[in-house]
Amino acid sequence: MSHTMVIFGASGDLTSRKLIPALYRQFHRGRLPKPTRIVGVARSVFSSEQWRSQLAETTSKYVKGDFETDAWNAFADQIHYQPGDIGNDQDFHQLAEKLTEIEESPTTDRVYYLSTMPQLYPVAISQLGKAGLNIDTHGRRRVVIEKPFGTDLATARHLNEAIHQTFREDQIYRIDHYLGKETVQNMLVLRFGNTIFEPLWNRNYIDHVQITVAEEVKVGRRGDYYDKSGVLRDMFQNHLFQLMMVTAMEAPVRYTGEFVRDEKVKVLQAVRPYKGSDFAEFGVRGQYDGYRNEEGIPEESQTETFAALKLYIDNWRWRGVPFYLRSGKAMSCRTTQIVIQFREPPHMLFGDSKSYRPEANRLVIQIQPAEGMQLHFQSKVPDSDMKLRLSELDFQFDSNGKELPDAYQRLLLDALTGDPGLFARSDEVEQAWRIVDPIISAWKSPAAPTLYNYEPGMWGPTQSSEWMNEQGRNWFDVCPII
Ligand code: BG6
Repeated sequence: MSHTMVIFGASGDLTSRKLIPALYRQFHRGRLPKPTRIVGVARSVFSSEQWRSQLAETTSKYVKGDFETDAWNAFADQIHYQPGDIGNDQDFHQLAEKLTEIEESPTTDRVYYLSTMPQLYPVAISQLGKAGLNIDTHGRRRVVIEKPFGTDLATARHLNEAIHQTFREDQIYRIDHYLGKETVQNMLVLRFGNTIFEPLWNRNYIDHVQITVAEEVKVGRRGDYYDKSGVLRDMFQNHLFQLMMVTAMEAPVRYTGEFVRDEKVKVLQAVRPYKGSDFAEFGVRGQYDGYRNEEGIPEESQTETFAALKLYIDNWRWRGVPFYLRSGKAMSCRTTQIVIQFREPPHMLFGDSKSYRPEANRLVIQIQPAEGMQLHFQSKVPDSDMKLRLSELDFQFDSNGKELPDAYQRLLLDALTGDPGLFARSDEVEQAWRIVDPIISAWKSPAAPTLYNYEPGMWGPTQSSEWMNEQGRNWFDVCPII
Protein backbone atom coordinates (compact mmCIF):
# COMPACT_ATOMS: atom_id res chain seq x y z
CA MET A 1 0.00 0.00 0.00
CA SER A 2 1.30 3.41 -0.99
CA HIS A 3 1.21 6.35 1.49
CA THR A 4 1.74 10.10 1.48
CA MET A 5 2.13 12.42 4.43
CA VAL A 6 1.47 16.06 3.67
CA ILE A 7 2.87 18.35 6.35
CA PHE A 8 1.38 21.85 6.57
CA GLY A 9 3.74 24.12 8.48
CA ALA A 10 6.73 22.43 6.88
CA SER A 11 9.17 25.19 7.76
CA GLY A 12 8.23 25.11 11.46
CA ASP A 13 10.24 23.86 14.38
CA LEU A 14 8.04 20.79 15.05
CA THR A 15 8.60 19.51 11.51
CA SER A 16 12.39 19.63 11.67
CA ARG A 17 12.74 18.72 15.36
CA LYS A 18 10.19 15.93 15.68
CA LEU A 19 8.27 14.89 12.56
CA ILE A 20 11.02 14.34 10.01
CA PRO A 21 13.41 12.71 12.53
CA ALA A 22 10.60 10.36 13.64
CA LEU A 23 9.73 9.42 10.04
CA TYR A 24 13.38 8.97 9.15
CA ARG A 25 13.96 6.68 12.14
CA GLN A 26 10.98 4.53 11.19
CA PHE A 27 12.28 4.37 7.62
CA HIS A 28 15.73 3.46 8.87
CA ARG A 29 14.27 0.61 10.92
CA GLY A 30 12.33 -0.60 7.90
CA ARG A 31 8.99 0.17 9.54
CA LEU A 32 7.69 2.91 7.29
CA PRO A 33 5.27 1.44 4.76
CA LYS A 34 6.82 1.44 1.30
CA PRO A 35 6.51 3.72 -0.50
CA THR A 36 5.79 6.66 1.84
CA ARG A 37 6.16 10.10 0.34
CA ILE A 38 6.45 13.25 2.40
CA VAL A 39 5.22 16.51 0.99
CA GLY A 40 6.00 19.70 2.91
CA VAL A 41 3.79 22.74 2.47
CA ALA A 42 4.64 26.22 3.75
CA ARG A 43 4.65 29.78 2.48
CA SER A 44 8.41 30.10 1.99
CA VAL A 45 9.41 29.53 -1.58
CA PHE A 46 12.14 26.97 -2.05
CA SER A 47 12.68 23.83 -4.04
CA SER A 48 12.37 20.24 -2.87
CA GLU A 49 16.12 19.97 -3.18
CA GLN A 50 16.67 22.94 -0.86
CA TRP A 51 14.21 21.58 1.69
CA ARG A 52 15.89 18.17 1.64
CA SER A 53 19.30 19.65 2.33
CA GLN A 54 17.95 21.76 5.22
CA LEU A 55 16.30 18.65 6.64
CA ALA A 56 19.47 16.59 6.24
CA GLU A 57 21.23 19.04 8.52
CA THR A 58 18.52 19.24 11.17
CA THR A 59 17.78 15.52 11.12
CA SER A 60 21.41 14.54 11.58
CA LYS A 61 21.46 16.84 14.62
CA TYR A 62 18.32 15.34 16.17
CA VAL A 63 18.74 11.63 15.41
CA LYS A 64 22.46 11.67 16.21
CA GLY A 65 23.93 8.16 15.88
CA ASP A 66 21.01 6.94 13.76
CA PHE A 67 21.96 9.19 10.88
CA GLU A 68 23.47 7.29 7.96
CA THR A 69 24.02 9.05 4.69
CA ASP A 70 22.84 6.16 2.47
CA ALA A 71 19.69 5.63 4.47
CA TRP A 72 19.01 9.36 4.54
CA ASN A 73 19.46 9.65 0.76
CA ALA A 74 17.01 6.81 0.15
CA PHE A 75 14.53 8.42 2.55
CA ALA A 76 15.05 11.92 1.14
CA ASP A 77 14.25 10.68 -2.37
CA GLN A 78 10.64 10.57 -1.25
CA ILE A 79 10.61 14.10 0.18
CA HIS A 80 8.95 16.88 -1.81
CA TYR A 81 8.18 20.51 -1.16
CA GLN A 82 5.25 22.53 -2.43
CA PRO A 83 5.06 26.25 -1.59
CA GLY A 84 1.56 27.17 -0.52
CA ASP A 85 -0.49 29.60 1.50
CA ILE A 86 -3.30 28.13 3.57
CA GLY A 87 -5.50 31.11 2.73
CA ASN A 88 -5.13 30.63 -1.02
CA ASP A 89 -7.59 28.32 -2.87
CA GLN A 90 -5.36 28.16 -5.90
CA ASP A 91 -2.47 26.78 -3.87
CA PHE A 92 -4.64 23.86 -2.77
CA HIS A 93 -5.53 23.06 -6.36
CA GLN A 94 -1.84 23.08 -7.19
CA LEU A 95 -1.19 20.84 -4.22
CA ALA A 96 -3.85 18.43 -5.46
CA GLU A 97 -2.14 18.33 -8.86
CA LYS A 98 1.25 17.80 -7.31
CA LEU A 99 -0.06 14.91 -5.21
CA THR A 100 -1.64 13.20 -8.22
CA GLU A 101 1.62 13.66 -10.11
CA ILE A 102 3.88 12.09 -7.50
CA GLU A 103 1.56 9.31 -6.30
CA GLU A 104 1.67 6.49 -8.79
CA SER A 105 -1.55 4.93 -7.60
CA PRO A 106 -4.96 6.52 -6.98
CA THR A 107 -5.39 4.16 -4.03
CA THR A 108 -2.63 5.90 -2.06
CA ASP A 109 -3.53 6.59 1.58
CA ARG A 110 -2.92 10.18 2.57
CA VAL A 111 -2.38 11.86 5.91
CA TYR A 112 -2.57 15.65 6.21
CA TYR A 113 -0.58 16.78 9.22
CA LEU A 114 -1.53 20.24 10.50
CA SER A 115 1.55 21.57 12.19
CA THR A 116 0.52 25.19 11.69
CA MET A 117 -0.66 27.89 14.04
CA PRO A 118 -3.90 26.62 15.63
CA GLN A 119 -5.87 29.61 14.30
CA LEU A 120 -5.29 28.20 10.82
CA TYR A 121 -6.81 24.74 11.47
CA PRO A 122 -10.38 25.58 10.37
CA VAL A 123 -9.17 27.34 7.21
CA ALA A 124 -6.78 24.55 6.30
CA ILE A 125 -9.49 21.94 6.81
CA SER A 126 -12.03 23.80 4.76
CA GLN A 127 -9.49 24.35 1.96
CA LEU A 128 -8.76 20.63 1.89
CA GLY A 129 -12.49 20.07 1.51
CA LYS A 130 -12.92 22.66 -1.21
CA ALA A 131 -10.11 21.10 -3.22
CA GLY A 132 -11.70 17.65 -2.79
CA LEU A 133 -8.67 16.43 -0.89
CA ASN A 134 -10.81 14.95 1.89
CA ILE A 135 -12.62 12.41 -0.27
CA ASP A 136 -11.52 8.86 0.38
CA THR A 137 -13.25 6.77 -2.22
CA HIS A 138 -9.96 5.31 -3.45
CA GLY A 139 -7.18 5.80 -0.91
CA ARG A 140 -7.94 6.74 2.69
CA ARG A 141 -7.70 10.38 3.80
CA ARG A 142 -6.84 11.31 7.38
CA VAL A 143 -6.00 14.53 9.12
CA VAL A 144 -3.70 14.88 12.13
CA ILE A 145 -4.23 17.89 14.35
CA GLU A 146 -1.68 19.11 16.86
CA LYS A 147 -2.62 20.56 20.23
CA PRO A 148 -4.02 22.93 21.39
CA PHE A 149 -7.41 21.66 20.33
CA GLY A 150 -9.40 24.77 21.18
CA THR A 151 -8.77 27.04 24.12
CA ASP A 152 -11.92 26.12 26.04
CA LEU A 153 -15.02 23.96 25.68
CA ALA A 154 -16.79 26.39 23.35
CA THR A 155 -13.88 26.77 20.94
CA ALA A 156 -13.15 23.03 21.00
CA ARG A 157 -16.79 22.29 20.13
CA HIS A 158 -16.72 24.88 17.43
CA LEU A 159 -13.54 23.40 16.00
CA ASN A 160 -15.00 19.89 16.13
CA GLU A 161 -18.09 21.08 14.28
CA ALA A 162 -15.99 22.88 11.68
CA ILE A 163 -13.81 19.83 11.07
CA HIS A 164 -16.78 17.49 10.93
CA GLN A 165 -18.07 19.45 7.95
CA THR A 166 -15.09 18.18 5.96
CA PHE A 167 -13.83 15.04 7.67
CA ARG A 168 -15.64 12.22 9.45
CA GLU A 169 -14.63 11.57 13.06
CA ASP A 170 -12.82 8.37 12.03
CA GLN A 171 -10.61 10.43 9.70
CA ILE A 172 -9.52 12.83 12.46
CA TYR A 173 -6.41 12.09 14.53
CA ARG A 174 -5.95 14.57 17.42
CA ILE A 175 -2.43 14.09 18.62
CA ASP A 176 -1.31 14.13 22.24
CA HIS A 177 2.30 13.08 22.21
CA TYR A 178 2.07 11.75 25.77
CA LEU A 179 0.08 8.80 24.45
CA GLY A 180 2.99 7.87 22.19
CA LYS A 181 5.37 7.54 25.15
CA GLU A 182 6.36 3.92 25.76
CA THR A 183 5.69 3.91 29.49
CA VAL A 184 2.19 5.29 28.99
CA GLN A 185 1.41 2.34 26.75
CA ASN A 186 3.17 0.07 29.18
CA MET A 187 0.76 1.25 31.85
CA LEU A 188 -1.98 -0.60 29.99
CA VAL A 189 0.18 -3.72 29.78
CA LEU A 190 1.10 -3.44 33.46
CA ARG A 191 -2.54 -3.20 34.45
CA PHE A 192 -4.20 -5.51 31.96
CA GLY A 193 -1.41 -7.89 30.96
CA ASN A 194 -0.81 -9.01 34.56
CA THR A 195 -3.04 -10.36 37.26
CA ILE A 196 -1.22 -9.17 40.37
CA PHE A 197 -1.86 -5.42 40.11
CA GLU A 198 -5.47 -5.18 39.07
CA PRO A 199 -7.03 -6.67 42.24
CA LEU A 200 -5.29 -3.94 44.27
CA TRP A 201 -6.03 -1.14 41.81
CA ASN A 202 -9.02 0.40 43.56
CA ARG A 203 -10.37 2.31 46.54
CA ASN A 204 -9.96 -0.67 48.87
CA TYR A 205 -6.17 -0.62 48.66
CA ILE A 206 -5.19 2.74 47.23
CA ASP A 207 -5.09 5.81 49.43
CA HIS A 208 -4.45 8.28 46.63
CA VAL A 209 -2.75 8.76 43.28
CA GLN A 210 -0.21 11.46 42.38
CA ILE A 211 0.53 12.42 38.82
CA THR A 212 3.41 14.84 38.43
CA VAL A 213 4.77 16.34 35.24
CA ALA A 214 7.65 18.53 36.39
CA GLU A 215 9.70 20.50 33.93
CA GLU A 216 13.01 22.15 34.66
CA VAL A 217 12.72 24.49 31.68
CA LYS A 218 11.10 27.90 31.88
CA VAL A 219 8.80 29.33 29.22
CA GLY A 220 11.72 30.43 27.06
CA ARG A 221 10.72 32.03 23.81
CA ARG A 222 7.13 30.80 23.99
CA GLY A 223 6.07 33.54 26.40
CA ASP A 224 3.48 35.01 24.11
CA TYR A 225 1.64 31.71 23.70
CA TYR A 226 2.21 30.54 27.26
CA ASP A 227 0.89 33.60 29.01
CA LYS A 228 -2.49 33.21 27.30
CA SER A 229 -2.49 29.53 27.98
CA GLY A 230 -1.06 28.84 31.45
CA VAL A 231 -0.32 25.43 32.83
CA LEU A 232 -3.93 24.21 32.97
CA ARG A 233 -4.43 24.57 29.24
CA ASP A 234 -0.86 23.74 28.28
CA MET A 235 -0.44 20.56 30.33
CA PHE A 236 -3.52 19.50 32.32
CA GLN A 237 -6.30 19.50 29.76
CA ASN A 238 -4.27 17.14 27.58
CA HIS A 239 -1.17 15.40 28.93
CA LEU A 240 -2.04 15.08 32.63
CA PHE A 241 -5.57 13.99 31.87
CA GLN A 242 -4.28 11.37 29.46
CA LEU A 243 -2.09 10.00 32.22
CA MET A 244 -5.02 10.05 34.62
CA MET A 245 -7.21 8.21 32.11
CA VAL A 246 -4.77 5.35 31.55
CA THR A 247 -4.28 5.04 35.30
CA ALA A 248 -7.96 5.02 36.16
CA MET A 249 -9.76 3.42 33.19
CA GLU A 250 -11.48 0.04 33.27
CA ALA A 251 -10.20 -2.80 31.10
CA PRO A 252 -11.51 -2.41 27.56
CA VAL A 253 -13.39 -5.32 26.01
CA ARG A 254 -10.68 -5.60 23.36
CA TYR A 255 -7.50 -3.68 22.64
CA THR A 256 -8.85 -1.70 19.72
CA GLY A 257 -9.01 2.05 19.22
CA GLU A 258 -12.70 2.53 19.91
CA PHE A 259 -12.95 0.23 22.93
CA VAL A 260 -9.90 1.82 24.57
CA ARG A 261 -11.17 5.33 23.92
CA ASP A 262 -14.63 4.42 25.24
CA GLU A 263 -13.10 3.41 28.56
CA LYS A 264 -10.85 6.46 28.73
CA VAL A 265 -13.66 8.89 28.15
CA LYS A 266 -15.71 7.32 30.94
CA VAL A 267 -13.00 8.36 33.40
CA LEU A 268 -13.41 12.01 32.43
CA GLN A 269 -17.18 11.68 32.55
CA ALA A 270 -16.86 10.51 36.15
CA VAL A 271 -14.64 13.39 37.30
CA ARG A 272 -16.55 15.35 39.90
CA PRO A 273 -17.02 18.98 38.84
CA TYR A 274 -15.75 21.64 41.20
CA LYS A 275 -18.25 23.87 42.88
CA GLY A 276 -18.30 26.63 45.50
CA SER A 277 -15.27 26.62 47.72
CA ASP A 278 -13.68 23.70 45.82
CA PHE A 279 -12.04 26.18 43.46
CA ALA A 280 -9.89 27.50 46.28
CA GLU A 281 -9.59 24.37 48.41
CA PHE A 282 -8.91 21.75 45.76
CA GLY A 283 -6.01 23.43 44.06
CA VAL A 284 -2.84 25.46 44.44
CA ARG A 285 -1.57 27.89 41.84
CA GLY A 286 1.91 29.30 41.48
CA GLN A 287 4.15 31.39 39.30
CA TYR A 288 7.92 31.14 39.31
CA ASP A 289 10.00 34.16 40.30
CA GLY A 290 11.22 35.95 37.23
CA TYR A 291 8.37 34.79 34.99
CA ARG A 292 7.20 38.38 34.49
CA ASN A 293 10.62 39.37 33.18
CA GLU A 294 10.54 36.76 30.43
CA GLU A 295 10.15 37.82 26.82
CA GLY A 296 6.51 38.44 25.87
CA ILE A 297 5.13 38.31 29.43
CA PRO A 298 3.17 41.30 30.78
CA GLU A 299 4.58 42.84 33.96
CA GLU A 300 1.38 42.15 35.88
CA SER A 301 0.77 38.65 34.52
CA GLN A 302 -1.41 36.46 36.73
CA THR A 303 -0.80 33.35 34.65
CA GLU A 304 0.05 30.22 36.61
CA THR A 305 3.21 28.33 35.65
CA PHE A 306 2.47 25.74 38.34
CA ALA A 307 -0.76 24.12 39.43
CA ALA A 308 -1.78 21.28 41.66
CA LEU A 309 -5.34 19.94 41.57
CA LYS A 310 -7.21 17.39 43.61
CA LEU A 311 -9.77 15.55 41.50
CA TYR A 312 -12.24 12.83 42.42
CA ILE A 313 -13.43 10.17 40.04
CA ASP A 314 -16.90 9.26 41.17
CA ASN A 315 -17.33 5.63 40.17
CA TRP A 316 -17.29 2.25 41.91
CA ARG A 317 -13.56 1.79 41.60
CA TRP A 318 -12.36 5.22 42.69
CA ARG A 319 -14.99 6.87 44.84
CA GLY A 320 -13.21 8.77 47.64
CA VAL A 321 -9.67 8.30 46.26
CA PRO A 322 -8.09 11.67 45.49
CA PHE A 323 -6.13 12.03 42.30
CA TYR A 324 -3.53 14.75 42.82
CA LEU A 325 -2.30 16.21 39.56
CA ARG A 326 0.50 18.76 39.42
CA SER A 327 2.70 20.28 36.81
CA GLY A 328 4.97 23.25 36.53
CA LYS A 329 7.78 24.93 34.70
CA ALA A 330 11.07 25.87 36.39
CA MET A 331 10.82 22.99 38.84
CA SER A 332 13.61 20.94 40.45
CA CYS A 333 14.11 18.54 37.59
CA ARG A 334 12.41 17.05 34.59
CA THR A 335 10.38 14.11 35.68
CA THR A 336 6.99 12.65 34.85
CA GLN A 337 5.72 10.10 37.28
CA ILE A 338 2.59 8.41 38.47
CA VAL A 339 2.61 7.44 42.11
CA ILE A 340 0.13 4.86 43.34
CA GLN A 341 0.10 5.33 47.08
CA PHE A 342 -1.34 2.30 48.84
CA ARG A 343 -3.06 2.35 52.19
CA GLU A 344 -1.20 1.72 55.42
CA PRO A 345 -1.39 -1.76 56.98
CA PRO A 346 -4.51 -1.87 59.16
CA HIS A 347 -2.57 -2.90 62.25
CA MET A 348 1.15 -2.42 62.86
CA LEU A 349 2.84 -5.32 64.60
CA PHE A 350 6.40 -4.14 64.52
CA GLY A 351 8.18 -1.47 66.52
CA ASP A 352 6.64 1.12 68.71
CA SER A 353 3.66 2.18 66.64
CA LYS A 354 3.52 5.56 68.43
CA SER A 355 7.04 6.66 67.49
CA TYR A 356 7.42 4.79 64.20
CA ARG A 357 4.99 4.80 61.32
CA PRO A 358 6.48 2.94 58.38
CA GLU A 359 5.69 4.35 54.99
CA ALA A 360 2.94 2.53 53.17
CA ASN A 361 3.57 0.70 49.90
CA ARG A 362 4.02 2.80 46.87
CA LEU A 363 4.33 2.04 43.19
CA VAL A 364 6.16 4.76 41.28
CA ILE A 365 5.78 4.61 37.53
CA GLN A 366 8.25 6.87 35.84
CA ILE A 367 7.33 8.03 32.37
CA GLN A 368 10.43 10.15 31.76
CA PRO A 369 13.31 10.84 31.55
CA ALA A 370 14.30 7.21 32.25
CA GLU A 371 11.33 4.91 31.92
CA GLY A 372 10.53 2.28 34.45
CA MET A 373 9.02 1.69 37.85
CA GLN A 374 9.81 1.15 41.45
CA LEU A 375 7.88 -0.70 44.12
CA HIS A 376 8.41 0.48 47.68
CA PHE A 377 7.83 -2.00 50.45
CA GLN A 378 8.90 -2.64 54.02
CA SER A 379 11.54 -5.19 54.92
CA LYS A 380 13.41 -6.07 58.05
CA VAL A 381 16.73 -4.39 58.78
CA PRO A 382 19.13 -7.35 58.82
CA ASP A 383 20.36 -8.42 62.19
CA SER A 384 18.00 -6.05 64.02
CA ASP A 385 15.24 -6.52 66.48
CA MET A 386 12.37 -6.40 63.96
CA LYS A 387 13.28 -2.94 62.79
CA LEU A 388 11.78 -2.04 59.44
CA ARG A 389 13.17 -0.13 56.53
CA LEU A 390 11.81 0.95 53.17
CA SER A 391 13.13 -1.22 50.35
CA GLU A 392 12.73 -0.85 46.63
CA LEU A 393 12.27 -3.13 43.67
CA ASP A 394 13.39 -1.46 40.48
CA PHE A 395 12.49 -2.13 36.90
CA GLN A 396 14.00 -0.20 34.05
CA PHE A 397 12.38 -0.33 30.68
CA ASP A 398 15.47 0.10 28.53
CA SER A 399 17.68 -2.29 30.46
CA ASN A 400 19.08 -3.67 27.21
CA GLY A 401 20.70 -0.26 26.68
CA LYS A 402 18.59 0.70 23.67
CA GLU A 403 17.18 4.21 23.62
CA LEU A 404 13.38 4.19 23.66
CA PRO A 405 11.66 5.62 20.60
CA ASP A 406 10.40 9.17 20.56
CA ALA A 407 6.61 9.39 21.01
CA TYR A 408 6.15 10.79 17.50
CA GLN A 409 7.61 7.66 15.92
CA ARG A 410 4.78 5.52 17.12
CA LEU A 411 2.08 8.12 16.53
CA LEU A 412 3.09 8.98 12.97
CA LEU A 413 3.17 5.32 12.05
CA ASP A 414 -0.28 4.80 13.57
CA ALA A 415 -1.64 7.78 11.64
CA LEU A 416 -0.18 6.43 8.39
CA THR A 417 -1.52 2.95 8.91
CA GLY A 418 -4.87 4.11 10.29
CA ASP A 419 -4.83 3.07 13.94
CA PRO A 420 -6.64 5.76 15.97
CA GLY A 421 -6.24 4.16 19.43
CA LEU A 422 -3.56 6.56 20.67
CA PHE A 423 -5.32 9.71 19.46
CA ALA A 424 -7.94 11.77 21.26
CA ARG A 425 -11.57 11.52 20.19
CA SER A 426 -13.85 14.56 20.02
CA ASP A 427 -15.84 13.59 23.13
CA GLU A 428 -12.62 13.05 25.09
CA VAL A 429 -11.33 16.51 24.22
CA GLU A 430 -14.64 18.12 25.09
CA GLN A 431 -14.88 16.26 28.41
CA ALA A 432 -11.38 17.43 29.29
CA TRP A 433 -12.35 21.03 28.66
CA ARG A 434 -15.53 20.54 30.69
CA ILE A 435 -13.32 19.79 33.70
CA VAL A 436 -10.72 22.53 33.36
CA ASP A 437 -12.89 25.34 31.98
CA PRO A 438 -14.61 26.23 35.27
CA ILE A 439 -11.29 26.06 37.11
CA ILE A 440 -9.62 28.36 34.60
CA SER A 441 -12.51 30.85 34.85
CA ALA A 442 -12.55 30.77 38.64
CA TRP A 443 -8.78 31.25 38.77
CA LYS A 444 -9.07 34.22 36.44
CA SER A 445 -11.89 35.84 38.40
CA PRO A 446 -11.41 38.55 41.06
CA ALA A 447 -12.11 35.88 43.69
CA ALA A 448 -9.24 33.71 42.43
CA PRO A 449 -7.18 31.94 45.09
CA THR A 450 -3.72 33.42 45.77
CA LEU A 451 -1.11 33.01 43.08
CA TYR A 452 1.92 31.92 45.11
CA ASN A 453 5.45 32.62 43.97
CA TYR A 454 8.12 29.97 43.91
CA GLU A 455 11.81 29.98 43.34
CA PRO A 456 12.91 28.25 40.17
CA GLY A 457 14.39 24.88 40.98
CA MET A 458 11.82 24.03 43.66
CA TRP A 459 8.81 21.71 43.62
CA GLY A 460 6.49 24.65 43.10
CA PRO A 461 5.39 26.99 45.91
CA THR A 462 5.93 25.84 49.49
CA GLN A 463 2.16 26.21 49.93
CA SER A 464 1.74 23.19 47.68
CA SER A 465 3.55 20.97 50.20
CA GLU A 466 1.68 22.57 53.09
CA TRP A 467 -1.60 21.91 51.30
CA MET A 468 -0.72 18.21 50.99
CA ASN A 469 0.47 18.02 54.60
CA GLU A 470 -2.82 19.51 55.80
CA GLN A 471 -4.50 16.52 54.16
CA GLY A 472 -2.15 14.14 55.98
CA ARG A 473 -0.20 13.35 52.80
CA ASN A 474 3.13 14.21 51.19
CA TRP A 475 4.13 14.83 47.64
CA PHE A 476 6.60 12.33 46.33
CA ASP A 477 9.27 14.94 45.62
CA VAL A 478 11.97 12.74 44.24
CA CYS A 479 13.83 13.48 41.04
CA PRO A 480 14.13 10.57 38.63
CA ILE A 481 14.02 7.40 40.67
CA ILE A 482 15.88 5.37 38.08
C1 BG6 B 1 3.90 20.52 25.30
C2 BG6 B 1 3.75 21.81 26.06
O1 BG6 B 1 2.66 20.04 24.87
O2 BG6 B 1 4.50 19.55 26.14
C3 BG6 B 1 5.09 22.29 26.56
O3 BG6 B 1 3.19 22.81 25.21
C4 BG6 B 1 5.78 21.21 27.35
O4 BG6 B 1 4.95 23.48 27.36
C5 BG6 B 1 5.79 19.89 26.59
O5 BG6 B 1 7.09 21.63 27.63
C6 BG6 B 1 6.29 18.77 27.46
O6 BG6 B 1 6.48 17.61 26.70
P1 BG6 B 1 7.55 16.53 27.15
O7 BG6 B 1 7.39 15.41 26.19
O8 BG6 B 1 8.90 17.20 27.05
O9 BG6 B 1 7.23 16.17 28.55
